[in-house]
Amino acid sequence: MPKQLLFVDDEPDVLKGLSRILKDHRHQWDMHFITNPEQALVMSSEQSFDLFVLDYAMPQKNGLELLEILRSLDRTREVPILMLTGKGDRVLKRQALELGATDFLNKPVDREELVARIMNSLRIKTYLDAMKGHNHTLEKAVQERTRELEKTRLQIIHRLGRAAEYRDNETGMHVIRMSQYARLLGLQSGLTPRAANLLLEASPMHDIGKIGIPDKILLKPGKLDPDEWELMKTHVPIGAEILSGDDSDLLRLARIVVLEHHEKWNGRGYPHGLKGDQITLEGRIVALCDVFDALTSERPYKKAWSVDVAVRFIEERQGKDFDPRLVQNFIQILPDILEIKDRYPDHGNGPAVKLISAHGETEKWNPSGALAPQLGPGARRS
Ligand SMILES: [Fe+2]
Ligand SMILES: [Fe+2]
Repeated sequence: MPKQLLFVDDEPDVLKGLSRILKDHRHQWDMHFITNPEQALVMSSEQSFDLFVLDYAMPQKNGLELLEILRSLDRTREVPILMLTGKGDRVLKRQALELGATDFLNKPVDREELVARIMNSLRIKTYLDAMKGHNHTLEKAVQERTRELEKTRLQIIHRLGRAAEYRDNETGMHVIRMSQYARLLGLQSGLTPRAANLLLEASPMHDIGKIGIPDKILLKPGKLDPDEWELMKTHVPIGAEILSGDDSDLLRLARIVVLEHHEKWNGRGYPHGLKGDQITLEGRIVALCDVFDALTSERPYKKAWSVDVAVRFIEERQGKDFDPRLVQNFIQILPDILEIKDRYPDHGNGPAVKLISAHGETEKWNPSGALAPQLGPGARRS
């Protein structure tokens, strides 16, 4: 595509002269000649130019004013500008330079000099355009890379959560379901979309501390004696310890979720016996979603409860185990919760399921894949 050049001079004869001495370049450049600076501004807002050649002395708007306006507009900020000036006009030249002129030409214009200056200016424009294109490509590559990192981060979080569940009772779908429930319940309960997405990413780590619980307790069939139960409860401080020392929003929230997922609304939970609003909203949300999923899932030591029975249990425990407002919100969004429950079954042999990430992307993962755990001889909700 030929380069676009705009010449602005109030004297038609000067423009004619310029046109004449540049006639050999017509095949190479599209040259536009304008006597009115205002009209030049209109034109430059409607089409892209590669070079402006401006006269200084014009009645409506002098060349410096025009230069200043062109430099202030996004569209023309980087387009080279040649100023036509009188020979010894040093003050004017300095002003023009300060305002961003690219180069000068003395009047009367010398043909060779004019062509050389135009060529140089156009070369600068070509470099600038190439650099812009390169920056754009780089920016896209960085965005792509960032998206990949976010996707990897989500995968690592899910796998960490699954690793924690792996030993005692889960197929790995528990952390997927309960984190999706938590996101929805968060949105229903006033969390911003960003905060709800962060909860989606943080909540799979709620039982990460089980990694530190010995098999003989974690996998013990039947009831734990009081000492064993005390040891089991240490999965909370162990998890908090694993997640401590990092100040990213995600790990900070994950640590809160770990610390609070066994706290109860009436203050009878552990480890700190926090009560009501002392427990963060996120902690209360995860506590409810974790229990609902545990109740409605099959475990080695129990059959899955029906949704009706589980909902009745949760309603019965509002004000005791659970924040009553959250229980009501949960019931309101129950159809959506059940849709998630159906989408991520424990024993799906069907096609790979899609994990919806916090960033709206999807990741395929086959639940019956290599990481599907052997079920232990017995387990309980910790
Ligand atoms: Fe859990
Ligand atoms: Fe737990």
